[in-house]
Amino acid sequence: MSNPHFLDPDWWRHAVVYQVYPRSFADADNDGTGDVRGITEKLPYLAELGVDAVWVSPWYPSPLLDGGYDVADYYDISPDFGTLADADAFIAKAHELGIRVLIDLVPNHSSWEHPWFKEALAAAPGSPERDRYVFRDGRGADGELPPNNWASIFGGPAWTRTTDPDGTPGQWYLHLFDISQPDWNWDNPEIPAMFDDVLRFWFDRGIDGFRVDVADAMAKDPALPDVAVDPHTGLGTNDKRVGSPQWDHAGVATIQRRWRAVADEYADTELGGRVFVAEAYLDPIERLVEYVRPDRLHTTFNFDALISAWTADSQRAVIAKTVPAHESVGAPTTWVLGNHDNTRVATRYGKPTTGKDYTAVEHEDAALDPIELGAALHAMPTDIDLGRRRARAAALLEFALPGGAYIYQGEELGLDEVEDIPEELLQDPAWERSGHRVRGRDGCRVPLPWSGEAPPFGFGLDASPWLPQPARWADLTAEKQDADPASTLNLYRAALKLRRERADFRTDALAFHAVDGGDVLAFTRGSGTLAVVNFGAEPVELPAGEVLLSSVDLVDGRLPSDAAVWLAV
Ligand code: NOJ
Repeated sequence: MSNPHFLDPDWWRHAVVYQVYPRSFADADNDGTGDVRGITEKLPYLAELGVDAVWVSPWYPSPLLDGGYDVADYYDISPDFGTLADADAFIAKAHELGIRVLIDLVPNHSSWEHPWFKEALAAAPGSPERDRYVFRDGRGADGELPPNNWASIFGGPAWTRTTDPDGTPGQWYLHLFDISQPDWNWDNPEIPAMFDDVLRFWFDRGIDGFRVDVADAMAKDPALPDVAVDPHTGLGTNDKRVGSPQWDHAGVATIQRRWRAVADEYADTELGGRVFVAEAYLDPIERLVEYVRPDRLHTTFNFDALISAWTADSQRAVIAKTVPAHESVGAPTTWVLGNHDNTRVATRYGKPTTGKDYTAVEHEDAALDPIELGAALHAMPTDIDLGRRRARAAALLEFALPGGAYIYQGEELGLDEVEDIPEELLQDPAWERSGHRVRGRDGCRVPLPWSGEAPPFGFGLDASPWLPQPARWADLTAEKQDADPASTLNLYRAALKLRRERADFRTDALAFHAVDGGDVLAFTRGSGTLAVVNFGAEPVELPAGEVLLSSVDLVDGRLPSDAAVWLAV
């Protein structure tokens, strides 16, 4: 399918972006780990799916202690994934097929294998090398206590003590995430300068934008004060209340403006339209939309949509909250059902608890910790047929909304979370750091099933994938779904084709529409397209209109439960 909007510098305002987790997408060199050549080979599949852009999770050299979000070199491709030449070929091929390319920028921390961190460890306290990261003396008589009470997102303290070259205990370094992910010191001018350079390096190679990892971190209160104690851990809380010294600090705005200026330097290049999407779990929405003011980033993930419960009221509340908030700053809203950090949507919606009820909770509290949410969900039984049915309806809801939409790889196949990965194979740092209380995010990162009847399902030729695939995925391969007109893959293709072609979907107009009876959400897009989602147990009557697409067959003209339809009205 050709993409008529490819050259539009505002392409990102309505884009459907497909997230590739490179380790798990396609393994061209058959070593059990996905790679860049694998992504390139599957680009025709993505073009046929009808996406406008691909976002590739980190592909940089990395010890992969946090799945690549521990970057050892921002200017290269991991040898596990390929070479810079492979990346160039991938970008060129994507553009040839009308697909924009976003990559991950990981600016809060590096890997402990980054040369500057190694230099910092080898240098003396107070040296310029140490000043690139956040090193401090410990508290207590011998510096044996961490400099403050901050906690790592993955569990345990956010500080690790170093050992001096003579073997004596030394200073501590800060890591808001894993011990292997030391935080950069953004107050040191070398760091913003280095990241400007990284942006230009990749923009010059033809990248269309960056997904910014923890876009609400980076800047910290230089006094590094203690925060309120979390009674469960005895360490500081990681809530993001206004005034937090760790999150959404005032300095974040300065950094984002600087990046925007770099992206804008490329406005007059052949493709133009270089953009950022912020990853920030931040409440309330008024704080989040500050990030997408015209002089800051372009878009931000809508995680409220991702964690909203499967009820009409909750979903309506999220839409009613997020659309006007984004409009107020002139930015498009985005819609997200999943990513590499969250339980897959088909499984989530098959659980007794499907998410957070946005009608019941006013949001002044801390954001939900997605990792803890995942752990709680994991313990609940799943009705996967129900979950998959709802996930299909959720896709039609998502793609009918104004703004951008994200697809996490495998959502288009209706993949479920792999909840029974043997403990000895779990790789998420949260597993170790939480003392084996939180299994973490590996269950949504299992390599994709492309073809065949048994693992590796065409992921590679015959090598065992780095995480085992369940045998049940034989029914969900892209090959099988390609041949089945009623498959989730073909539903996605049909939806994206309509979304691309129908002028109503390229407007920003959305008006809620009242439908009698049931637990129903309905809204009009533009002047002539109506989306109806039935969250209730009973079928509902539909307004008059021509059916464009439905997530299940209608029954006597009525929309069954847990289903969605698009009507021309
Ligand atoms: C958010 C990323 O999505 C997640 O996978 C990672 O662990 C953290 N940021 C730390 O980089």
